[in-house]
Amino acid sequence: MFKHIIDNDIELRLVNVQYAEEIFKSIDSSRKHLRKYLPWVDTTKSAIDTRAFIDNSKRQYAENKGFDAGIWYKGEFAGVIGFHNINPSIKGISIGYWLNERFVGKGIMTKACRVFVDYAFNTLELNRVEIRCAEDNFKSGAIPERLGFTKEGIIRDGELLCDGYVNSLVYGILKREWK
Ligand SMILES: CC(C)(COP(=O)(O)OP(=O)(O)OC[C@H]1O[C@@H](n2cnc3c(N)ncnc32)[C@H](O)[C@@H]1OP(=O)(O)O)[C@@H](O)C(=O)NCCC(=O)NCCS
Repeated sequence: MFKHIIDNDIELRLVNVQYAEEIFKSIDSSRKHLRKYLPWVDTTKSAIDTRAFIDNSKRQYAENKGFDAGIWYKGEFAGVIGFHNINPSIKGISIGYWLNERFVGKGIMTKACRVFVDYAFNTLELNRVEIRCAEDNFKSGAIPERLGFTKEGIIRDGELLCDGYVNSLVYGILKREWK
């Protein structure tokens, strides 16, 4: 079971049904902030929807296709970080994340992301980690930039968000580049 204490304030725990209500409440209290870049927010209407997300995530974990971890900051649930789109043929994986608005600006996600990249290279023995974000999602793009990822390109209309298509930026880092 993935559980990782990052420092005195931040802890990562594999998502589990026992957290469904807590995670849903966090999404519900931060809808305006989250929905701009996360199209699933509007369709997350109750803890039942969050439970479906958790069930799906646990299925992925059981099939070695990735997993999601909740982030706790000073004992409070703050957001989620996850591994998705594992590509065994090139040993690649993607990371996605979100934080409740109250927890933005503290460096939490950069620290969580560093742990995930380490895990991808050193535990999962992968070769490439990718992060995609909307072209104007500067706070999201700043995370791979802080961690030394390369901005590799743009996928035109790479994401369909609530307000329509947007271009995605692709950031990548390879095992040999990770220190
Ligand atoms: C994307 C998202 C997670 C970024 O959150 P964030 O708080 O900016 O990211 P971090 O937790 O890494 O914190 C970085 C901020 O904390 C500051 N910070 C404080 N201590 C820090 C530390 N020790 N290390 C790094 N940054 C630190 C940084 O300066 C930065 O603040 P700034 O943007 O004012 O310069 C958040 O904006 C979010 O959830 N957005 C909505 C959902 C979303 O867009 N998800 C991504 C879809 S691709």
